[in-house]
Amino acid sequence: MADDKKQATWGGRFLEGPSDLMHRIGESVSFDHRLASFDIQGSKAHASMLAHVGIITSEERDAIKDGLDSILSQVQSGDFIWDPELEDVHMNIEHALTQKVPAAAKLHTARSRNDQVATDMRLWFKYACDEIHTSLNVVMSYLVNLADKTQTVVIPGYTHLQRAQPVSMAHHLLAYVEMLDRDRTLFSSVKEEANICPLGSGAIAGTTLSIDREFVAIELGFVNEKGEAKITENSMDAVSDRDCFIQFASACTSVGIHLSRLSEDFILWSSSEFSFVKLPDSFTTGSSLMPQKKNPDVFELIRGKSARLIGNLQTLLTLLKGLPLTYNRDLQEDKPPVFDSFDQTLLILDCASACLPDIKVNLERCAEAVDDPALLATDLVDYLVKKAVPFREAHHVVGALVSLSEESKTPLSELSYTDVSKIHMALGEDWSQVFDLEKALSSRELKGMPGPKQVADRIVYWRKLLT
Ligand code: ARG
Repeated sequence: MADDKKQATWGGRFLEGPSDLMHRIGESVSFDHRLASFDIQGSKAHASMLAHVGIITSEERDAIKDGLDSILSQVQSGDFIWDPELEDVHMNIEHALTQKVPAAAKLHTARSRNDQVATDMRLWFKYACDEIHTSLNVVMSYLVNLADKTQTVVIPGYTHLQRAQPVSMAHHLLAYVEMLDRDRTLFSSVKEEANICPLGSGAIAGTTLSIDREFVAIELGFVNEKGEAKITENSMDAVSDRDCFIQFASACTSVGIHLSRLSEDFILWSSSEFSFVKLPDSFTTGSSLMPQKKNPDVFELIRGKSARLIGNLQTLLTLLKGLPLTYNRDLQEDKPPVFDSFDQTLLILDCASACLPDIKVNLERCAEAVDDPALLATDLVDYLVKKAVPFREAHHVVGALVSLSEESKTPLSELSYTDVSKIHMALGEDWSQVFDLEKALSSRELKGMPGPKQVADRIVYWRKLLT
């Protein structure tokens, strides 16, 4: 049986301490210790507020703050000993502070672990969103660099994994920059959502003490652009709201899915069947049996990690869905999935950043893949449309030409004009001028299209935005 003095924070009415099994299932310090610096930041601000309203003296405040600073140094140097019997990060820190500073016994005035943990996590989300934002910027910059180098590399664009129409590799890569930019927006909105201070909500119903919620919110940086305090409006919502957790995990899932699709493209592109790119040796592995193998492990693992991110979001949704108001202990299980999503998202972003600069493009194979006039069949339809042939009819005509090309085993562009002209009178002698890749791309210069000027402009746009 545990030393019940350790439950000094809530042990008053208990005759015996929790069983060993209860300690094992109940402890969260093994994962919430990573909130230490945010917990200390929150406690220092709370102590300042208590002094500001006259609940503690300025000497007590200073002693509490000094004590917390020395605990933070111990935590940062790895000297702090976390005790699972003290349940969580909050009680470990408070217990350690109590050993150093008598005034520590007043620190928890007008506060509960319920509004404390909600505050810690909101501070953590603000930090975590900034970290992911920075890593997203790096991946985006490397994608833009690779796009810059591949502006003139034409490859087939695919639908249904069938060759569809030619695009520059740059345009293909920049599609991912758009996706990751949307992810940046998601994280900005999680950060915005997190920027509201729940302190003062107490366990569920606030406090009868005259505290100053605005003061502590401003101390902790929960402010709007004018520097005014942003505080929660309903104490019951504030201690049980986990929306940020779901939004954060969902934003991580979005990054995961985007990087997973990018990975799939690189896995395909690096296969012998495509061979559009060569992946760096440092991020691929060989086979223990087949000496010729070079496996795209890093991209397969990124693709695999996205499943884990989806699982974490699922865990949070399931955890929340049946909970009555307000705090229930189930909510302690909200942190492992969120921390894991953060760690794995940073890891996959870092891996993508590390690989991208060393990806080599095989120009010959790209040129071979795009050397099929049928890829410009749609441009031939447009040629007829420009000659006033209705689109449906034009589509049919080009279909007939494609079939003729297949039957006669002649590339579409090399069919004889005599044969071609029999199919439709609008097909003039200039019909085969359509089959010019460069012209095909430079005819697509409206916003968002793969025309070389559009792509170059977008590269300039991203470079400016990302520096
Ligand atoms: N470790 C707890 C958690 O993360 C802190 C809140 C505990 N509150 C309580 N009423 N037991 O959920």
